Amino acid sequence: MPSSQPAKINPFWSSYRGLRYPTSPLPSFKKFREKCGDTYQLFAGPKGWAVVTERADIVDHVLRINNKNYNKSPIVSEILAKYIGNGLLTIDGEFWRKQRKLIQPGFSRERLSNLINTIDEEAKSWVNALPQNESFDIYDTTVEVAMQIMAKVLFTDKISAEQLHTIAHSVELGQLQFAKEVRQPILAFWRKLTNSAAAAHEETRKAVDILLAQIQSHRAQPEKYADLLQMLIDARYEDGTEMPDAQLIDEILVLILAGHETTAITLACTLHLLAQHPDWQSKVREEWQRVVGDAPLDGHMLRQLPILTAVINEGLRLYPPAYLISRIAIGDDEIAGTKIHAGQMIILNIYGTHRNAINFDEPTTFDPSRYLERRTTTNFAFGAGSRMCIGYHLAMMELQIAIGRFIASSTFVKTQQTQLNFSASATLRPNEGVWVSRQIDY
Ligand code: HEM
Repeated sequence: MPSSQPAKINPFWSSYRGLRYPTSPLPSFKKFREKCGDTYQLFAGPKGWAVVTERADIVDHVLRINNKNYNKSPIVSEILAKYIGNGLLTIDGEFWRKQRKLIQPGFSRERLSNLINTIDEEAKSWVNALPQNESFDIYDTTVEVAMQIMAKVLFTDKISAEQLHTIAHSVELGQLQFAKEVRQPILAFWRKLTNSAAAAHEETRKAVDILLAQIQSHRAQPEKYADLLQMLIDARYEDGTEMPDAQLIDEILVLILAGHETTAITLACTLHLLAQHPDWQSKVREEWQRVVGDAPLDGHMLRQLPILTAVINEGLRLYPPAYLISRIAIGDDEIAGTKIHAGQMIILNIYGTHRNAINFDEPTTFDPSRYLERRTTTNFAFGAGSRMCIGYHLAMMELQIAIGRFIASSTFVKTQQTQLNFSASATLRPNEGVWVSRQIDY
């Protein structure tokens, strides 16, 4: 096949759409695809023309097959890093390899199995406090429970609700500022004039003070803590040195950004899908009762839940919270007839890839059996290759436990909401909530 440059979107049209749809690029991406196909080029200001794609083979090539040729794009390594710091998600090269090697052991399935009871306790109290027989916004509550779990995993329970709120708020403001910079480059002058990033920077300063105090109390009495922060403090680089405090803070902020909202969104959206599909709800309930029942939960049980796992994978396919992944090419490349030149940005539209008929049969239908029967294994919700999500096992564990407990404790879950609407900053956030009701007859 002769190689070619994908079609270019008119820069005026794309700027106009960026201003018209400030809360999410997805409606624009849909329009661009209808006009120019599954792969096209978008003008990315000073970064030149970026290739945008929904093709699973191109996504796989960039993230896995030839990942050595692709670094994080400046969207992440410069703009996101400005607000969230230089942690695993935003760094590259030797620095990234060194950090990943140090942090990875803390996220192994074996090590995380110590957290099953903690997560289970949080999940059960969450479920017990939810309304019954009335419609409520479950997303509001999944944001809380995911944050509580994150706090326990990172800091045991030695952090106040107010401190947690400050940290979450600083991550939130950083994300919002990041989204504005990426989506509306044309308004950069206005943002500078009004110093619109000041609030985000001020909140980050407060969060840093709280994290510094946490690090100091962990260092002073290490025997009191068996959490992730203590693991990061105890870890040593190959030369025997420890992670400096400033780097510890950046890594913690990144873990909170990358791990909190993503999990909360997936939990809410998967429950929305189950509420629309009573047949799958019954299958998940029956499997949970058979495998877990009233016994204390353990890691072995979590590996015996193929139906629940397929439901979560299908939820992540339809609503991938990290809906865009971007990279920059180090050298020239050619992918399935598409030319990429050195220095070019490439935007992997994961949401579009997961809903495109070139990659999946009946792509918009909720059908967990596609994973259960292994008709496909394609799913980029956690990325792929060496930069794949470090929190994969933790997220899956949280989702299995929370969804399992929720479905098992309700006789029926339903919803009148047929469609979810999203605002999209760093993650795909349901901006009108996720409304469900649960029935309990016993
Ligand atoms: C459903 C939940 C989650 C989803 C969908 C998700 C998704 C992703 C994706 C797509 C990436 C790759 C980004 C890229 O290649 O540019 C990623 C990376 C990352 N995730 Fe997650 N994530 C989730 C949960 C978590 C959790 C619970 C944590 C930790 C507490 C976490 C921490 C990270 C970190 C640190 C990275 C950067 C890894 C690296 O580059 O070495 N994530 N995540």
